[in-house]
Parts: sequence; C-alpha cells; structure tokens
Amino acid sequence: MKKAIVAISLALTSLCLNAQAQPASSFKPGEIWPDNNGVHINAHGGGLLYHDGSYYWYGEHKIAGVAGNKAEVGVHVYSSNDLYNWTDRGIALKVEGDDSDIAKGCILERPKVIYNPKTKKFVMWFHLELKGKKYDSARSGVATADTPEGPFTFIRSQRHNAGHWPQNVQPEQKDPESIKLTLAENNKFGGGPSKKHAKFNILGSHFEGGQMARDMNLFVDDDGTAYHIYSSEHNSTLHISQLSEDFLSHTGHYTRNFPFRWMEAPAVFKHDGKYYLIASGCTGWKPNAARSAVADNILGPWTELKNPCTGTNPSNKLGAAKTFGGQSTYVLPVHGKKDAYIAMFDQWNPKDAIDGRYLWLPINFTADGFEIPWISEWDLSHFDK
Ligand code: GAL
Repeated sequence: MKKAIVAISLALTSLCLNAQAQPASSFKPGEIWPDNNGVHINAHGGGLLYHDGSYYWYGEHKIAGVAGNKAEVGVHVYSSNDLYNWTDRGIALKVEGDDSDIAKGCILERPKVIYNPKTKKFVMWFHLELKGKKYDSARSGVATADTPEGPFTFIRSQRHNAGHWPQNVQPEQKDPESIKLTLAENNKFGGGPSKKHAKFNILGSHFEGGQMARDMNLFVDDDGTAYHIYSSEHNSTLHISQLSEDFLSHTGHYTRNFPFRWMEAPAVFKHDGKYYLIASGCTGWKPNAARSAVADNILGPWTELKNPCTGTNPSNKLGAAKTFGGQSTYVLPVHGKKDAYIAMFDQWNPKDAIDGRYLWLPINFTADGFEIPWISEWDLSHFDK
C-alpha cells in the first residue's frame, strides 16, 4: 500500500513538473495565463511593443480585491519571443510618494509604450487620475526609459492641446457665450452617456486649460509620426492628436471623432494602407458591444463599421453584444506575418482586479472591414490558412 502511494505521488509530481516545464503553444482566451514563474500574467489594460526581436507586454499591475482598481504598484512588463510564453521583467514604472502625480493609490490605466528611434527612448503614455480625485482629473501621464524593461522615469501629467482648436472645430465651439455658460456649470457632467452633454460646449470650455483625456492608446504610423488617441470631452468624443517628434508632447494638431458616440478603449491599427479602429461603448467595467471604424487618414474622417465580434464565449455565454465579456485594449500586428493582427481585450474583474483575464483573438479581414471570431484555443498558424 505504502509503495503504491509513493509511486502515485512520484507520478503526480513528475506530471506537475512536466506541466510546468511544458511551454505554451496556443492562446486560450479567458483562461489563467501563467508567466515563466507559473503566476497569472499581471498586465491589464495592456499594450505591446515589438523591439529588436522581442515582444514586450506592458499593463496595469493589479492587486487582489477591489483595492486592485487603484494603482498600488505600477506598470508591469513581460517579454516574449513567441507571444505564448511570457517572462516576468518586473515593474517598468513604479508608483511614487504622495507628492507625485503618480502617487501610490492614484488611478493609472491603459499604459502603452512606443520606441522613438531619434531620441532612442522608450516612451510610455497612460491614463492618469490623481490620487483621491476619483475620475475627475482626466489626464495622461508620460514616462521614458532607455531600455524596454525600464525603469521608466515619470516626466509629467497633463491635459492636452491647451490653446489649440481641433482641425475640424465648428464655429459654435468658439462661441464665448456658450463657453461661459458651460464653465458656469463647472463642467459637472460625469463621464457616462447622457443627453445633457450635447447642450454644452465641452470642447470650448477646455480650450484654455487643455482637453480631457481618459481611455487611450498610441499609434506610430509608417512615417514615424506618433498619435495619441483618447476619450475626451467627458468621454463623449474621441480625440486623435499628433505627438511631437520626441513623442513627449502634443503638437496642437488634432481632430474630434465620433462626437457623442461615447467611445472608450480605443485601439488603432493599419492594414493595406487603411486605418482601423476597435473601441467599446462607455459602461465602466461592464462589457458592452464593440465598435469598429475605418479611415484613409489617421486623423479622420472615420467611418463607423459594424460590431466586429462573431460567435460566443462558452465560459460566460457572452457573444458580440457583450464583446465575449471583454473590452478592447490593443491590436498587435504580428511581426513578419502578413495580414496577421491580434485583437486584445480585457475581461475585467473589478471585485478581484488581479484575476482579470485576457482575451486575445485573431482578426479576419473581410471585403468590407474585419471580424473577430471567438475561438477557445488557437495559435498563429490561424493566419496561414
Ligand atoms: C472603463 C475603462 C477602464 C476603467 C473603467 C473604470 O470604461 O475602459 O479603463 O477606466 O472604465 O470604471
């Protein structure tokens, strides 16, 4: 009997060891995704960077429970050569002391990193809400590093394009009376869809102080110009703004897009000379239907397409109407593979933030746009079909 127990336990141990040593060779959206230490990857609201043969995955490091919805640690970074297996590279940007804009306990979301070949700096932008101010600050923060793993040095946080009108400004938005009226309301509208916003001049009332910015992404075009895409005007309208040559500030060259469509979680990519966007509606941590759009110019005009999702996630029975339970965060062009793009979504768990899951799904291009089918397990050979 004793011998049998020893034999069984030895077999189980070797099974476990084998399971641990076995590298992953597929994506399993929504499942626990262990890193090289066997720990579920902690990089939520993330973005990817391909640099010198490796992928880097940056995202919000979350702690357990509801406390994890605030930034207690910073931005986590992982690296990978194959996109399935990720090595923990530690905290790329650490939260700081109480006198910093990125004080421990602030809200620091959706970090994205791009590389600037002119300055040889890795530049990180993220959505920042100052500590103790709920979601009222509506700012972005910027940090830089000399290596992709960091450490990143925080530079500053700000609202954007103060003193500049967007390229597609309307005459009524420059009207001093409506600006005065809106400022008198103290801009207290909240960040969720309501009809009230349309009556006010939210753009004009932020002309002097700079435009609000919450959910965001970055995009570097083929000519090396970088753009910052963010939910502005109390989340009602998406702004797309050109960044300066060093990627550290806004040039004043920007457009308003999808006015009063309440687009959040924007992710932009380019395919065959066209720009595409995936975004969500505005319902906080709760999933809603994904949006998509196409443009010939990154600054617009954009044409909205349909909800790109198809199929159902069997683990929560959620389909296109709820983006399989996810919300977009990034689209990755797979290096060296033509027409291969991965759409990345977060499946948030605000009650236990650290247990948020990742839904990575392939993009299939169609005659009139693209689709994102639910697939419970897949690998990069999907794109060879
Ligand atoms: C979502 C947003 C997340 C987070 C959340 C807070 O709409 O995409 O990044 O800000 O709201 O409720």
